[in-house]
Amino acid sequence: MSHDLDTLLTEFNQSLLVVKTKTEAMDLKSKFIGPKGHISSILKSLKDKSPEEKKEIGSKTNEYKIKIETLIGNKLSVLETEEINQKLSKNWIDVTLKDSNLDLGLNAGGYHPATIVQREIEDIFLSMGFDVLDGPHIEDDWHNFGALNIPADHPARDMQDTFWFADNLHLLRTHTSSIQVRGMETKKPPFKFVAPGKVFRCERTDASHDMVFQQLEGMMVGEGIAVSHLIYFMKTLLSEIFKREVDIRLRPGFFPFVEPGFELDIKCQICSGKGSSEGCSVCKQTGWVELLPCGMVHPNVLKAGNIDTEKYSGFAFGLGLDRLVMMRYGIDDIRLIHSGDLRFISQFKSY
Ligand code: DAH
Repeated sequence: MSHDLDTLLTEFNQSLLVVKTKTEAMDLKSKFIGPKGHISSILKSLKDKSPEEKKEIGSKTNEYKIKIETLIGNKLSVLETEEINQKLSKNWIDVTLKDSNLDLGLNAGGYHPATIVQREIEDIFLSMGFDVLDGPHIEDDWHNFGALNIPADHPARDMQDTFWFADNLHLLRTHTSSIQVRGMETKKPPFKFVAPGKVFRCERTDASHDMVFQQLEGMMVGEGIAVSHLIYFMKTLLSEIFKREVDIRLRPGFFPFVEPGFELDIKCQICSGKGSSEGCSVCKQTGWVELLPCGMVHPNVLKAGNIDTEKYSGFAFGLGLDRLVMMRYGIDDIRLIHSGDLRFISQFKSY
């Protein structure tokens, strides 16, 4: 019997050598130590043996059973490791691997130039006690036009043709001035805030016009607010942004929601104000760029916002954020700003 057991173990070892899969290993296991396996039948045959033989063969058989069990267990874990390695080699992601871009450290990524300038302006105004407000891109007629003293038949609507929704009630806002209306709904005077955001117009595009562009609205309402306050804040903003004095000019401008209204132009930083001699497409060869339309808030607008016009007055402005970005960084085509072109954007990553 002992001899049988030795032969059995040799047979087992030989079979184990050619086992390639976990199923084969399990089959081998049941063939040798399963309930109907060789070891079981040896144990069953013991009933006809003498007590001494039972004892001797019984303990030896158990010993072999444990041996086989261990060998099968080892084989299974080898096969399992192989299986995992095979899966990994087919489909692997090494989470410890470094992207070569990441090696560049802080210089690898950066903010969009418009974000940089927007945040700087927000900081400048926050430091002067202004709040920063936000408003929806999809507006209704009242917030975009009606409350801003632009009734339905007003020709000023033609200058701001935009994208209307099928309900003819909603539109993509044409300017951030709609946030003036929203600001007046939530704030009691005195108040002052700025509100940056994207605006949309059905525009023919060129180097200084795009269908989507960004503005930064500003509004200050309080007792005794006058044009001098407006000029003070505009000058402070520009000298902070350009870190030097820039030449500006103020001329009358018409906007239904301000009276008086102004156009504040800045000397073109692309052609240094040379205009026609340089053939500059950004300032249309005038040497000046319209940057900051502004004025004293029209009483009808204050009334639409339930503000007592006898007691309060205010100024408002609508900064062309993209144009300021262009002047600041010497960008000669506004369409680059929303192009998403990495060759353009990545130039700013170290700012
Ligand atoms: N909303 C005007 C536009 O997009 C710009 C503007 C002009 C805003 C005068 C103002 C303002 O707040 O006072 O053309």
